[in-house]
Amino acid sequence: MGILLLALGIPILVGSHGVKEFTVNYDNVGALGNQRTFEDKNTFMFSQNGNGASGTVTIPVTSTMKQPVYLYYQLSKYYQNHKRYVRSRDDKQLAGVGKQANDTASNRGICNPEEFLGGPDGHFEANAPNGNIARPCGLIAWSNFNDTFSLPPQYNVREDEIAWEYDIEHLYANFTEENYNPSTAPQYRGGGNFSQGPGMRDNQHLIVWLRPSAHRTFRKLYGVIHQDISPGNITVTVNSRYNTYGFGGQKAIVLATTSWVGGKNDFLGIMYIIFGVLALVVALGFLLTYQMGLMKRRRFGDPSYLSWNRHANLMAR
Ligand SMILES: *[C@@H]1O[C@H](CO)[C@@H](O)[C@H](O)[C@H]1NC(C)=O
Ligand SMILES: *[C@@H]1O[C@H](CO)[C@@H](O)[C@H](O)[C@H]1NC(C)=O
Ligand SMILES: *[C@@H]1O[C@H](CO)[C@@H](O)[C@H](O)[C@H]1NC(C)=O
Ligand SMILES: *[C@@H]1O[C@H](CO)[C@@H](O)[C@H](O)[C@H]1NC(C)=O
Ligand SMILES: *[C@@H]1O[C@H](CO)[C@@H](O)[C@H](O)[C@H]1NC(C)=O
Repeated sequence: MGILLLALGIPILVGSHGVKEFTVNYDNVGALGNQRTFEDKNTFMFSQNGNGASGTVTIPVTSTMKQPVYLYYQLSKYYQNHKRYVRSRDDKQLAGVGKQANDTASNRGICNPEEFLGGPDGHFEANAPNGNIARPCGLIAWSNFNDTFSLPPQYNVREDEIAWEYDIEHLYANFTEENYNPSTAPQYRGGGNFSQGPGMRDNQHLIVWLRPSAHRTFRKLYGVIHQDISPGNITVTVNSRYNTYGFGGQKAIVLATTSWVGGKNDFLGIMYIIFGVLALVVALGFLLTYQMGLMKRRRFGDPSYLSWNRHANLMAR
């Protein structure tokens, strides 16, 4: 047992250490650099009519990264696991079964407070097309992350292989957007619209966003690069439009390789090693006690020693 745990733990630790990762915060990209406090940044974002700021940041890659290399964005202080947030979606609508976007009467409520275009104060308008119910509806879809990143042209960043195959095939129908974060109503926009293609299934960034994270600081996959990356400074052009500054959230981009362990995480390897060593120590302890004849002999496999049998015996009396 101990040996087995050690045999698992050591390679996991080594594998996890082989993971390379380089992170750069971009809260000060472009004109945001002139806004010192979160409050200033928040005000600035509101003044930009949804277009935010653009500029470049540099990721210092200090050692060779073996492909595949993953590009992530990282948000902090963002509670994607909040009850109200997680529940504010309509899985049937997303899957294209049952409730449709135009199915207003029976569909109300599930996606509150972002059921209709217009947000928390959103009002149902009978005259609007389809009663202005949003598709996709709900807080989580409405708050679709909309920053964009582009690397120099020598890096081919695939943004069409980031969502789980299962999600694309089973959770989402390929519907088109309706009353969803339109550029014609910037005051109602909570995030991005369908920017990658006309259908839901083309919008893998949104599909990734819709799988909620359990942690308040989390990463989401933005792209995959099927090339080794040699050491150097990589200039990333960022369009920072997503406003996390109202709640003091920070934003960063991460370039990382992954190993068979699946990401940089020493914890698992260390735990295996600790338990492996413990198991060995305990086993050795037992062996010694036994050999020294201190252990009381008893018949092996005597079922009366099992507590539930003892209990059963008592009951039978
Ligand atoms: C609602 O939309 C679905 C598919 O988009 C369509 O088949 C159906 O006829 C529409 N219903 C109404 C009442 O417009
Ligand atoms: C979606 O947003 C983009 C800006 O990111 C805008 O150019 C486009 O017109 C929008 N589409 C709709 C349907 O509003
Ligand atoms: C991007 O998301 C923010 C919300 O953080 C929103 O206010 C803004 O209008 C969006 N911009 C675009 C172009 O989608
Ligand atoms: C989704 O639908 C759009 C148009 O309705 C189409 O162009 C696109 O190829 C479809 N995508 C997938 C993945 O089926
Ligand atoms: C990367 O940029 C830093 C400063 O930001 C500089 O010190 C370093 O020499 C650069 N490295 C390369 C390989 O250009």
